[in-house]
Amino acid sequence: MANVRFRKTNADDYDEVIAVREHLYDGLDYIKDMYHHFLKTETGFAGYINNIMVSFVFAAAIDDNARVSVRAARVRKGYEGQGIYKKMRQYCMMNLPTKANTMLLTVSPKISEKLLKGPAKLILKRNVLEYTTTKTSLKPLLVSKQNSTLPMHVDKSYFHDVILSQNSKRHFFPENKIVVFSVPYELMSANVERIFSQTDILASCSDAKQWEFDNGIYPKMISACTSHQCEFGTMIYIDLFGFIGDEKMTSDHIHAHLLRCVDGSKENIALYLTYQLIEDNETLQRILSKLRGKKTCEQVFHCIETSVLQ
Ligand SMILES: CC(C)(COP(=O)(O)OP(=O)(O)OC[C@H]1O[C@@H](n2cnc3c(N)ncnc32)[C@H](O)[C@@H]1OP(=O)(O)O)[C@@H](O)C(=O)NCCC(=O)NCCS
Repeated sequence: MANVRFRKTNADDYDEVIAVREHLYDGLDYIKDMYHHFLKTETGFAGYINNIMVSFVFAAAIDDNARVSVRAARVRKGYEGQGIYKKMRQYCMMNLPTKANTMLLTVSPKISEKLLKGPAKLILKRNVLEYTTTKTSLKPLLVSKQNSTLPMHVDKSYFHDVILSQNSKRHFFPENKIVVFSVPYELMSANVERIFSQTDILASCSDAKQWEFDNGIYPKMISACTSHQCEFGTMIYIDLFGFIGDEKMTSDHIHAHLLRCVDGSKENIALYLTYQLIEDNETLQRILSKLRGKKTCEQVFHCIETSVLQ
């Protein structure tokens, strides 16, 4: 492999970062829209060969600095398969202000199988349903929901109570992690600020008493949503925690997020919904088909913890 030189990136590197790799993920890549936003909470790392930026990744120390999470990784075409991504991950670990020695990755089952042959551990799997729809078909469907009692927006302190409550841990997070926008977080206070900077959190709590967790009263569902513009149009990313078989509740969460996102969206909309692995998704599929959506993919993603320093 040619000699790769790595460095941190900043806002001025935007054009070069975008040019590393275009048209990724069938036009759903978030880098163009999210680069500046992510720079507030993550560190960008780029690799150079002969003054050409050949690779990029975002990395951040999470879980109170115990782990590093990486995302948005890309290597320029023509430079893949030479170990650049692996070297870049090592560089991230050594150049973040953390002593973490493990890294979290969200990958496909195929990549997971490969990584698990090395020094890696499977932390959890989550189901994903992907749909596409349009703003024109969604808007009239959402108008009827505008005045209904939809799940409430929660603040940081409420969310903090949710993730630390024993009851809600059992109910929402059986894997003992919360996976938001593809990053698996430990259920701890140190992650709250970061999760809030990237997502909107809703909870179903029609009654004030449902704010009391450890008396056995807790909301029935929690959901997180992030949306971004991309080549395809607008991507709306929703993570659901709770029993998705409850059609009204699940549908209310999805509608509430869509109501907030759709005004600023482009005509083509891609929905990416994640939910607990064991759950039957018949109800979810019914809800999504009522949104005049077309299913484009059903898959499972794997969260892997690995040491890249060996
Ligand atoms: C995925 C990608 C970053 C790999 O870059 P690369 O420089 O070719 O990777 P390397 O040569 O360093 O390969 C390192 C190892 O990582 C593995 N790997 C491949 N895809 C991976 C992924 N998404 N996550 C983690 N590891 C991956 C490879 O199988 C390889 O393992 P091996 O050495 O046992 O064969 C590159 O192919 C790319 O830009 N793809 C398009 C964007 C993408 O899919 N990004 C995924 C991360 S969000």
